[in-house]
Amino acid sequence: MLVDNQHYRTIWPNSSGVVPVVEIIDQTRLPHEFKIVEISSLEQMIGAIKTMQVRGAPLIGAAAAYGMALAILSESSDEYLQLSAQRLIASRPTAVNLKWAVERMLNHLLALPVPERLQAAWIEAALICEEDILLNRAIGAHGLQLIDRMRNEKLRTINILTHCNAGWLATVDFGTALAPVYAAHNAGVSVHVWVDETRPRNQGASLTAWELAQHGVPYTVICDNAGGHLMQQGQVDMVIVGADRVTATGDVCNKIGTYLKALAAVDSVAFGHQVPFYAAVPSPTIDWSLRDGVSQIEIEERHADELAWMSGRLASGEIASVNVLPQGARVANPAFDVTPARLVTGIITEQGVFAPDQLHMMQRTHL
Ligand code: MRU
Repeated sequence: MLVDNQHYRTIWPNSSGVVPVVEIIDQTRLPHEFKIVEISSLEQMIGAIKTMQVRGAPLIGAAAAYGMALAILSESSDEYLQLSAQRLIASRPTAVNLKWAVERMLNHLLALPVPERLQAAWIEAALICEEDILLNRAIGAHGLQLIDRMRNEKLRTINILTHCNAGWLATVDFGTALAPVYAAHNAGVSVHVWVDETRPRNQGASLTAWELAQHGVPYTVICDNAGGHLMQQGQVDMVIVGADRVTATGDVCNKIGTYLKALAAVDSVAFGHQVPFYAAVPSPTIDWSLRDGVSQIEIEERHADELAWMSGRLASGEIASVNVLPQGARVANPAFDVTPARLVTGIITEQGVFAPDQLHMMQRTHL
């Protein structure tokens, strides 16, 4: 997608030096600074995933795939690759794309003779990235049909609420939840996005707002608690969120607060509105081994500092962090929640839009 009218992906290899490296956009600096960072080792890639310089389920999958390619620069034995894979998978537990990408890399590499592994690792990681873009484009095309149908009914701008960042910054390119938004905007279908700020890390306010602005899509940032009110007032036409892991039964695990949006969307019927709740999900995000998201998905608990400290730009222009809690305050910081399938209207995948209880009809091309 575009940054200052120049096309970027979120991650790419650079082989212009003596040894190849991976370049990423440092998402901890946005929206105030657009900084590209070079990652040259497995350790650095694990660090980038843990500190959320790269984040978003599909992107951490792609980053971990390149993490395997970087690992192989130092050693390509079975044992070392298995250990590297374990370390990458442990770096963030909830998004299944990470495990999926690492296992795909590992299985592919272990099946090859050792001398062939180095080149094969870089090719496979690049393939995972290319596939991600194709999946997201297909999600965009299917989601566009939903938006277009609604526009034909309402004959006005369609207001879409989204939570966290499931745009191009969360993927290699194009995004998942925002893919239909970009597809609609590009096709001349008028859309406006309600952007949840998404405490504690503010991925909505700092990332979604930034990338929508870069692409010229109209948006309004709201505090996380405003969504229910706007739905009661008929100011939201549909909710589209991304996902970190979806069960075979259609339970959707996504950024903390997503569940509350689904509850409000379902209740909007009582106020004369019917706000559909969609999750945009590429197949590597589906964990076919799970049937109950609430009891089976591990929810990442992140550091208390994410709630305690807020960072932003001072009036002087300086970037600073401020503490917003009383000293010694106890903090709980679960990073994700699960929206049960019964609250989900549809799952927008690269193969089409499925009711949650029909998800099993998908062809399992990414296991
Ligand atoms: O903790 P994050 O920023 O990695 O969480 C991201 C989300 O919850 C996204 O909505 C999800 O990964 C879908 S990304 C296409």
